Amino acid sequence: MSNGGQVVLITGASSGFGRLMAETLARKNFYVFARMRHARTRNAEAAREWEQVAKRESPDLQVLELDVTQDASVERAVDEVLAKCDRIDVLINNAGYGIMDLCETVTLAQAQRQLDVNFFGVVRMNRAVLPTMKRQGSACFCT
Ligand SMILES: NC(=O)c1ccc[n+]([C@@H]2O[C@H](COP(=O)([O-])OP(=O)(O)OC[C@H]3O[C@@H](n4cnc5c(N)ncnc54)[C@H](OP(=O)(O)O)[C@@H]3O)[C@@H](O)[C@H]2O)c1
Repeated sequence: MSNGGQVVLITGASSGFGRLMAETLARKNFYVFARMRHARTRNAEAAREWEQVAKRESPDLQVLELDVTQDASVERAVDEVLAKCDRIDVLINNAGYGIMDLCETVTLAQAQRQLDVNFFGVVRMNRAVLPTMKRQGSACFCT
């Protein structure tokens, strides 16, 4: 591996910026773990396209399941990376979404669901990776 063998974990890589970042970093020979939810169902097409990118650009491109609102899913995702690489150099907290509507029409349940992804999802991910990053003595995460 080049780029010092740096291991990158990206959340929400089924589309948009997450997907673009994962592809770009894979092309630059980072060791990319691109995570998405519903990789075998709703996002199966995106997962298949990833496999093609992996074959073409980098054998290191990994596509695996992760829902940032589920504690067990977060723990499993991080454990899988550590089992394979024993380190995480970069965490990109990309998973999230906006609500495009009049403020007064957004229900409390909708706002709470959004916070569970956009805010608590980041807290879950950071809590899961920071002990490893501290042990390593160097790493970064971005949100
Ligand atoms: N585009 C903008 O102008 C803009 C501006 C400011 C901030 N942002 C933020 O930048 C990030 C990427 O935006 P984007 O435009 O690339 O949006 P996007 O194409 O909708 O990508 C968002 C990604 O987050 C994933 N996601 C949503 N809920 C999730 C969950 N519970 N667990 C795991 N993944 C989840 C989505 O997965 P699914 O496909 O399964 O839904 C999707 O892969 C988001 O956090 C967004 O809020 C975007």
